[in-house]
Amino acid sequence: MTNQKAEGRRPSGRLVIRNCRIIDPLNKRDEAGDILMEDGRISALGKDIAPNGAEAVKGDGLVACPGLCDMHVHLRQPGREDEETVESGSRAAAAGGFTAVACMPNTQPVLDNRGMIELIRSLETPLCRVHPVGAISKGLEGLELAEIGDMAGAGAVAVSDDGRPLTDSNLMRRALDYCRMFGIPVVSHCEDKFLSADGSMNEGPLATRLGLRGIPSAAEASMAYRDCRLAALTGGRVHIAHVSCAETVEVVRQAKKQGVAVTAETCPHYFCLTEEAVVGYNEAARVNPPLRTKRDVEAIIGGLSDGTIDCIATDHAPHSLEEKEVEFDASPTGMIGLETALGLCWTHLVEKKVLTARQLVEKMSVNPRRILNLAGGSLEVGKESDLTLFDPNAEWTVDPEKFKSLSRNTPFAGWKLKGRAAMTVVGGLVVKVD
Ligand code: DOR
Repeated sequence: MTNQKAEGRRPSGRLVIRNCRIIDPLNKRDEAGDILMEDGRISALGKDIAPNGAEAVKGDGLVACPGLCDMHVHLRQPGREDEETVESGSRAAAAGGFTAVACMPNTQPVLDNRGMIELIRSLETPLCRVHPVGAISKGLEGLELAEIGDMAGAGAVAVSDDGRPLTDSNLMRRALDYCRMFGIPVVSHCEDKFLSADGSMNEGPLATRLGLRGIPSAAEASMAYRDCRLAALTGGRVHIAHVSCAETVEVVRQAKKQGVAVTAETCPHYFCLTEEAVVGYNEAARVNPPLRTKRDVEAIIGGLSDGTIDCIATDHAPHSLEEKEVEFDASPTGMIGLETALGLCWTHLVEKKVLTARQLVEKMSVNPRRILNLAGGSLEVGKESDLTLFDPNAEWTVDPEKFKSLSRNTPFAGWKLKGRAAMTVVGGLVVKVD
């Protein structure tokens, strides 16, 4: 860990957050109280804790929860340090209230061996815990398995060919088999490349009207079905990344009913936006999988509320403006999300009563850690103090110029949101204060 002095503020030994709402789903706690932290650990929880010289922060009206964890980000290092680095991505994570992220392997070169996993771990700063995801196949080429055991031994928390879906079903079967031995999940970017072909948005009447080639939901749902069957066959764990459509929600729902070891995530853009965001050839709304229809948004909301979808991740995908701001179908896919996720989720899920605050904490903090076998996810005396303190009533307007990320590609510029991180604490270090 480097930069400790420069980047974080370790309160003079002890810090107490007074009278906040403490939401800790694993300990079934949702009540007002104080949290005392010392030497990087939580040392007391309860009412009216005697401060004994501790620095005090007023928590009135604020919510404290186990630090948010984003299990799907792209940090672009190595290879595209102009778009993001481990450090800048960590800064964006801290600003957004995240204390941990899992970063995808589609860097240049690819994270497909022990050395690359060790490199990412060596770049971690005190701003955020960064957990690398290794590639399933060497070079993401879909031909030969990467050294999964070696990567898991070096700290890879999962494997994925995110961005370059795995066509070879037998390779996927073997990846699930290997990962079962190491206790890590396979994160599947579900896309049948023959079906998505050169599509650039959701398939349907709107794509026809805009003269753009479409990507049918079946491209995602059919692969999700395949991977659920392969998880059932092998006993391995599959995690379906960035669920975008109604059909995939149903595939996951049915597989869970059958006892398949499947979990799933969606991203804020799949429940806050529809394909209409593309109108005007708005390249900021180009993402893979594509934004879908109102019916899909409703199904995703249904999947979030009935537990079919376990997590909300951002798929934070930084792209340079020069590359992003070109003709729609030549623009790279993806949008950044670390600094808007909490506000989008609070405004569009909790305020609209789709999820309770506790359920949101489960999906943004507890469940991703459970899936990736990460420590944390609860607020307990003696445990390392990774927590997020947020203001559910803070109203703010998304201004990409203020982002800590090195990139600016978001379709949410100018959106008015409610809910924002006020303080982010990683291992007792205050890495973000409003
Ligand atoms: O839109 C996307 N962008 N989807 C992915 O799966 C990959 C990501 C990227 O790396 O830019």
